[in-house]
Amino acid sequence: MASSEAEKKSDLGVPGRVIFLDGRGELPMLEVSTAWSTAEIYLHGAHVTHFTRKNEPPLLFLSQCSRFEQGQPIRGGIPVVFPWFGPREGLGQHGFARVKTWELKEFAPAPDGSVSLRFRLPDCPEASAFGPFNADYIVTVSDSLKLELVVTNKSRTDEFVFENCLHTYFEIGDICTVSISGLKGATYLDKVANFVEKTETNEAIHINSEVDRIYLNTQGAIEISDGRLGRKIRVEKQSSLSTVIWNPWIAKAQQMPDFGNEEYERMVCVESGNVGSNQIRLPPGETSRLTVKLTSGPAQ
Ligand code: BG6
Repeated sequence: MASSEAEKKSDLGVPGRVIFLDGRGELPMLEVSTAWSTAEIYLHGAHVTHFTRKNEPPLLFLSQCSRFEQGQPIRGGIPVVFPWFGPREGLGQHGFARVKTWELKEFAPAPDGSVSLRFRLPDCPEASAFGPFNADYIVTVSDSLKLELVVTNKSRTDEFVFENCLHTYFEIGDICTVSISGLKGATYLDKVANFVEKTETNEAIHINSEVDRIYLNTQGAIEISDGRLGRKIRVEKQSSLSTVIWNPWIAKAQQMPDFGNEEYERMVCVESGNVGSNQIRLPPGETSRLTVKLTSGPAQ
């Protein structure tokens, strides 16, 4: 099934390796191996579907019911949400970037053993509603997973106004034993209460019903403590003012055709981006660089 392969030995003598495969639904997929981890990335949406550190459970949740089809988003992993977040009248939810086939521009197994891959969003009819721009997505696989969405406004005269979000689905042991810290004091829009504005008063957020919240003006790191898996996940970000926390819980899970009825127990989304009043107004010729680094290890 492998169509080609690239390999370079790291300083440790361990190869960083990229293999090109037909993935699920025969969509082209890249399998990346490093001394510390493995990852899978589809060109469809430039979608990271797997990242697993050696001797650790997978970091990313992927639904058993996900579609792998042209025109449909993948349920799980890291959908790239761009150039808008949420619904937009007459257009799809969460932008078109997650359903386009991105071009692989370069991949580089580095001397330190990490592997970086750069993808570019292709020209498409939907993009022509906006001014000229480039969107690149750089994924670096090593001991951690680093993601950079780099958007350049190519217009000489006009701002480019957009939203972005790396909609990360984390794999957890049991939603009832998970706490999320780093958001105390932040203002959020509560989507399950008609977008009412609230303030987070908890040091650690526990989830025991549907949660769909947009935290605004949040720049600090978020930690997910997972009692069942005995793991702590850290989300560090730059050029991101918004954090979205989402778990569909029971009723919504049952309504989603590409999500298992019980899968809400094993996932939580902690999404980093710039949405709503945090949207980006990029001046002509300028570049925005949304960066997210995911690390994990045993909970103390
Ligand atoms: C979250 C939104 O980011 O994504 C939720 O806040 C939404 O409202 C969820 O339900 C999933 O969206 P989709 O389009 O992938 O089903």
